[in-house]
Amino acid sequence: MTVVSAPGKVYLFGEHAVVYGEPAVPCAIEKRATVRVEPRDDGSVRVEAQDLTLNGFAVEYDEQDTQPDVDVPPSLIDAATGYVDAAVEQAREAADAPDAGFDISVDSEIPLGAGLGSSAAVVVAGIDAATRALGEPLDHRELAERAFQAEYTVQDGEASRADTFCSTMGGAVRVAGDDCRQLATPELPFVVGFDGGSGDTRQLVAGVRSLRDRYEFAAETVEAIGDIVRRGEELLAGADPDEEASAELIGELGELMDINHGLLSALGVSARSLDSMVWAAREAGADGAKLTGAGGGGCIVALDATSETETSLQYTPDCEQAFRAQLATDGVRVEESA
Ligand code: MEV
Repeated sequence: MTVVSAPGKVYLFGEHAVVYGEPAVPCAIEKRATVRVEPRDDGSVRVEAQDLTLNGFAVEYDEQDTQPDVDVPPSLIDAATGYVDAAVEQAREAADAPDAGFDISVDSEIPLGAGLGSSAAVVVAGIDAATRALGEPLDHRELAERAFQAEYTVQDGEASRADTFCSTMGGAVRVAGDDCRQLATPELPFVVGFDGGSGDTRQLVAGVRSLRDRYEFAAETVEAIGDIVRRGEELLAGADPDEEASAELIGELGELMDINHGLLSALGVSARSLDSMVWAAREAGADGAKLTGAGGGGCIVALDATSETETSLQYTPDCEQAFRAQLATDGVRVEESA
């Protein structure tokens, strides 16, 4: 049995704009997806997935099943099974083993489709576990590229390298097009609020594309998000990664997050529940708050070194779960090898 885990992420800045080549800064967080893989002799693939949402559900399917019988929106199940299938294809290709079969089981602490990079974590851990199980481990750069290709296929060509690179490498990263780098940053006081729901990444990305194609000012809004990221990077570059982040740095980053949320909202990817959690965080004294990931529902991320935002979110009707998220310094990680 080969067991590999990979972390989810929050976006400090830059989601959606990164699809058009603007930079983004996602940060890996200590919520992980764990994939267990055992090769099978008969060439078939069997998958068992548990706890893909915070509420937890179990799904068993094989390549012939079109719709497993579980109480979760079909689009999410399609997405989850689609990502696992795409990961298997990438692993077979990388190991030059087109007929390889696997027993796969997925355990995830990351809610599905909620903006915390669940699909990227499953794809990264899945490809790594499967290629290792076949005796053909990949280096991190190739793993990240193959994980991106898997997401790109499932999302009909509407995906950036941000989620998959971040989940592979861990820590904070900076991604613009195919230029992917690790960033040394101090630990930031992230607080996450989750509305219990999810958004459809493919549809949300298509909505932004449509606005951007039709309105010059929507295209400028995408560029303005890029400007926020560039400003944020300058602030991070001036900070000592080994020291605690100063109140001044957190305040300035928070201000940029607030503007970033406003621009994402203008592009139509926020939701009432996300806005309500963003405002609850701000009113509790957070330095800044924004939706994270594709939007439409799911999670917000705030910066607050005190416990006020987490407490306030716990009492916000639109928030189902609030937690402090620590930067995951480890990206993909082998937990057990055969
Ligand atoms: C989704 O986590 C982030 C988006 O920018 C899409 C992508 O980068 O692939 C919305």
